[in-house]
Amino acid sequence: MKLHTVKEIGENFFIIRSQEKDFHRNIYLKSFKKDGKSINMIMDPGTRLDFEPLVEILTDLIGGIENINIIFVTHQDPDVTFNVRAFLTASPKSFVMASVDTLRFIKMLDIPDVRQQAIENFKSDELTIKPTGHRFKIIQIPYCHARGAIAMYDLETKIIFSGDLFGGLNTKKTSKDTVYANEESWEGISIFHQIYMPSKHALQVALDKISSLEPMPKMIAPQHGDVIKGELVGDFIQKLYNLSVGIEIMTKKDTEIELLITVLKKFIDKLKQTNNIDAKKFLDTIKNEKNFTTAISIIKDSVIDVKVSSKEAIYIFFEAIDTIAEEKDKNIYTAILVNLLDYYNLPIPEQLLKDKFILPETDVLE
Ligand SMILES: [Fe+2]
Ligand SMILES: [Fe+2]
Repeated sequence: MKLHTVKEIGENFFIIRSQEKDFHRNIYLKSFKKDGKSINMIMDPGTRLDFEPLVEILTDLIGGIENINIIFVTHQDPDVTFNVRAFLTASPKSFVMASVDTLRFIKMLDIPDVRQQAIENFKSDELTIKPTGHRFKIIQIPYCHARGAIAMYDLETKIIFSGDLFGGLNTKKTSKDTVYANEESWEGISIFHQIYMPSKHALQVALDKISSLEPMPKMIAPQHGDVIKGELVGDFIQKLYNLSVGIEIMTKKDTEIELLITVLKKFIDKLKQTNNIDAKKFLDTIKNEKNFTTAISIIKDSVIDVKVSSKEAIYIFFEAIDTIAEEKDKNIYTAILVNLLDYYNLPIPEQLLKDKFILPETDVLE
């Protein structure tokens, strides 16, 4: 049954990650411990698929699910709240903690008022665990991505549990044996934020709050993707600050994205004229890119919508050529796509050209 990965990322701060390649859940447990007393907080406790593994894992970590005291919930999505009612039943001492705007939805799970604790009812956003003296902060991050979204900053470990903020659609491609992010993790983070964060303004307000925390977080633990630590904390905050997301991308459609769809249609027409790459296979590969069908919407054999930035989409197209074209044809199809992008004045990321084109064989002359 133990298919989840469990790792201690800070003192008594555990990540419990489900196994799906894409869009898995990171559930966290923090045990506040002192002088034989402990208060256990489970954060965003996952879906039905996670419940049984959690029962087993919590038995190992804290002697049983009944020892959970606080169910901290960042927002109302089903990947976060599905198990709240089951936890309240299995852990008789526990209560669910969330913002008023989140609790309004959580009530629908038939949870009595006495088992709910709204963060707005506390005098301060810095709270103390009375039995142990530990402190943690609650950070309101409105519209990232729900109205009542919150994050939890554990002052003992300097780890911030950020919910969907900093979440990655998937984890990095290499170094799968560790839960920590590397540069490759950015790809999943950027796609996830472009799709699910509603606006750059909302994102920047949240990032400003996190950047001004005292002391600065050492680690960011999101509900999806990799755990961010070290220099990447500052790097990814900066990158997210400059990222266009949600409604900004949608309203840019008239220009870049529309042109991109035109380029794709023409490229697919060219594929249909040759036997070397099957157009259907190309479209299927784009659809299955990152196993997340909504980044690029395809109906029948036409691209009808692109929900990520044009730069991100261009990468996906080149990756698809790389995946399905035979080695000898790769440069030809790459060149066809580059020409079309050039013709419509769409920017081709420089790094991509460096990666995709094979270097000339300079040793043919003497
Ligand atoms: Fe969510
Ligand atoms: Fe989520």
